Amino acid sequence: MSPLRLNKIGIGLIGLGTVGSGVVNVLRENKKLLSDRSGVELEIRRICVKDISKLRAVKVPRSFLCTDPELLLKDPSISIVVELAGGIHPAKEILQKALARGKYVVTANKALLAQESEVIWEAATRAGVEIGFEASVCGGIPIIQALKEGLVSNKISHFLGIVNGTCNYILSSMSSAGADFHAALKTAQKKGYAEKNPTLDIDGTDSAHKLAVLARLAFGAKIPFEKIHIEGIQKISAADIEYARELGYAIKLLAIGKRSARGLELRVHPTMLPLDHPLSHVHGVYNAVFVRGDRVDDLLFYGRGAGMYPTASAVVSDMIAIAKKIHAGGAKASAHPMPAVPTKICPMDETVCKYYLRFQVADKPGVLGRIAQTLGKNRISILSVHQKESRDAKSVPVIILTYEAKEKDLRKALSQIDHFPESCENTAVIRVEK
Ligand code: NDP
Ligand code: HSE
Repeated sequence: MSPLRLNKIGIGLIGLGTVGSGVVNVLRENKKLLSDRSGVELEIRRICVKDISKLRAVKVPRSFLCTDPELLLKDPSISIVVELAGGIHPAKEILQKALARGKYVVTANKALLAQESEVIWEAATRAGVEIGFEASVCGGIPIIQALKEGLVSNKISHFLGIVNGTCNYILSSMSSAGADFHAALKTAQKKGYAEKNPTLDIDGTDSAHKLAVLARLAFGAKIPFEKIHIEGIQKISAADIEYARELGYAIKLLAIGKRSARGLELRVHPTMLPLDHPLSHVHGVYNAVFVRGDRVDDLLFYGRGAGMYPTASAVVSDMIAIAKKIHAGGAKASAHPMPAVPTKICPMDETVCKYYLRFQVADKPGVLGRIAQTLGKNRISILSVHQKESRDAKSVPVIILTYEAKEKDLRKALSQIDHFPESCENTAVIRVEK
């Protein structure tokens, strides 16, 4: 056997869509570069898809394709199973089987890692097999590697991340090109950024999946997915984007993980950031994560957060790292790279924020006074008030920026104000971060 043959590592791919096609192309087009740098050669031996007859963006020998994952799992020449199908089922069952059979796993499936985290890590621990998941968060940005290794000597106090390329693309298009929400979403889908079900992007769920993966690494805490507060960008209007800009802010969908005196804050919601904040300058499909560590201070990770090649870049980096370990004798991993200690999660009601509030009210004397009085009674202090021109003749937008207030108090105040006879629609609420 030639030495080159010895270094070949068999790959089984599950999924040949946007990311899977990118991986095939990277392995093909950068074959020499990859083997020169790693001393191993990754060889795809089988690809499992849903529909074998589908026309594909990438050409692969028909004999590689199958619809039964069992064919990959029982093939002893396949050492690494790369799951790029997405969703919880059957990805979960396939990966459990792969791990139980001692296959190494690489996945971009943040939904699975967030919602079935313990099941997957227990299966990996039982099997003593490593999982690579760099591609699950922020496409091409090596943020997982950074949190796992580069920042291991730091206690992370918080991170703020723009972690969904689709939402950032939509918000950027709405704010710079005045694009319509639905048209911008369509373009993001065409470019391969959106999830198969784009509601997961828009309603904040995808960002919450990524928040769960990042928070586990950053804080060494098990993250019960249902404890993450999730709001998406569905209610963000072009008017709010414009008013925010006039006040000196950009609106971004943020995933926030923060240690506070009240526990670990885990929240995804549209957020107003001062225009001079570095995250305000992250546009289009780009993602960025701002991290503060106690030794390193502030860091900013920035790059393309979705799409074929940035994501394939992250997948292939995991494949190479694992293949090198296999080649070196199969160093086994036994658990999640970050051990978890019991940690209190702060309930959303207890979080403290500044708020942007847009009241859409009838233009009558005394309304502003009643709003201010109700906020005050609920311990919410006003920072500034701005009345804008009416856009619909029936109501007038009144914008109030508050000082820091408790979420519970704000909710109580708004439940009263939204019932005023002068209130024409529910108050728009956007949290403000520094
Ligand atoms: P696509 O929808 O483009 O591709 C999914 C692929 O999986 C298709 O080839 C499909 O087969 C195959 N597939 C689906 N269900 C099954 C099944 N039950 N058995 C076998 N094959 C199946 O998705 P993406 O490539 O965009 O995403 C893949 C994963 O990567 C997801 O977890 C996603 O969240 C994640 N991800 C995506 C990013 C992106 O920018 N697109 C970025 C980061 C992560 P067929 O082609 O026959 O329909
Ligand atoms: N749909 C995701 C996004 C893909 O738009 O960010 C990358 O995880």
